[in-house]
Amino acid sequence: MIYNENDSVRLSQDGSSVVIIDQTLLPAEKRFISLSAAEEIYDAIYHLKVRGAPAIGIFAGYALYVLARQISETEDFFVRLEELSNYLNSSRPTAVNLSWALNRVKKAALNCRNLKRSEILNAMRTEAAVIHEEDTAVCRKIAEYGLSLINDGDGILTHCNAGALATSRYGTGLGPLLYGAEQGYRFHAFIDETRPLMQGARLTAFELMNAGIDCTLICDNAAGLLMSQGKIQACFAGCDRAAMNGDCANKIGTASAAVLANYYKIPFYIFCPSSTIDKNCRTGKDIVIEERPAEEITKLYFSRQIAPDGIKCFNPAFDVTDHSLITAIITENGIFRL
Ligand code: MRU
Repeated sequence: MIYNENDSVRLSQDGSSVVIIDQTLLPAEKRFISLSAAEEIYDAIYHLKVRGAPAIGIFAGYALYVLARQISETEDFFVRLEELSNYLNSSRPTAVNLSWALNRVKKAALNCRNLKRSEILNAMRTEAAVIHEEDTAVCRKIAEYGLSLINDGDGILTHCNAGALATSRYGTGLGPLLYGAEQGYRFHAFIDETRPLMQGARLTAFELMNAGIDCTLICDNAAGLLMSQGKIQACFAGCDRAAMNGDCANKIGTASAAVLANYYKIPFYIFCPSSTIDKNCRTGKDIVIEERPAEEITKLYFSRQIAPDGIKCFNPAFDVTDHSLITAIITENGIFRL
């Protein structure tokens, strides 16, 4: 196994739990937590302890295996497996990699339905590990393609976090920067803080600084100014679900950044594994946008409450960037210009 103790998601040695970096504690603390109960696994996804579409998929694959081990001999294994899978799948609606990974691991089990329980479990474990390993290769390819789109010294705007924390290695949207830094490229990243959950400030800043990449944290609403000053040569974002017409759902604020980039004629690139493309979604209108609690806007990351109790809030976690605003979608299979 090529995975090690620093991975943001991994299976414990004995296979009884999934070990993750609790991303809600970053950057102040890098703490690994082990999860083995269905409720804590659901909670970890819902509360973004593990987050980012590919990482959620890798996590869910291992988690279904961990939970399947706990199914008692007296229960109908496949009925219970379906229940567990549905339960995990209901934790967040937008990232397609969640259901995609659960279905893959479930299918691996079903393919062995006539074999012994231990063999079914082995097949599930193997499939979950394959999902993990594939992601590393996929991210590397995405990083290589992405690097070909930019020049040494470019200023790059990032939104949310699409780095190694959100995947297995390199990330998607941050892949070209992290891989490029290894090759000696020098970029300047402008990091959208990414209101309200601050994935840019907390996670992207943490990852890019650790990689020695020159970077500056900005408020989301400062991006237009920087674009107008010619400081941004390209915008990079990940994706939670892409529709067949090229519309892409990603962290709330992605679409606004794309509109700005379009105005200033700056290329706007979306990076994702091909597993993020949902063949069942014709356009972005078919994508379910998660809505999250008001407290995330009014107080979560502030030392003092910043909005009055009871204020009406609207807190969508994602938005859909229209395909007309996207210059290209980059997957492990190449650069697809829209
Ligand atoms: O709510 P989050 O933090 O899970 O949202 C994550 C994103 O929007 C990422 O950009 C996306 O999942 C791609 S991660 C490689």
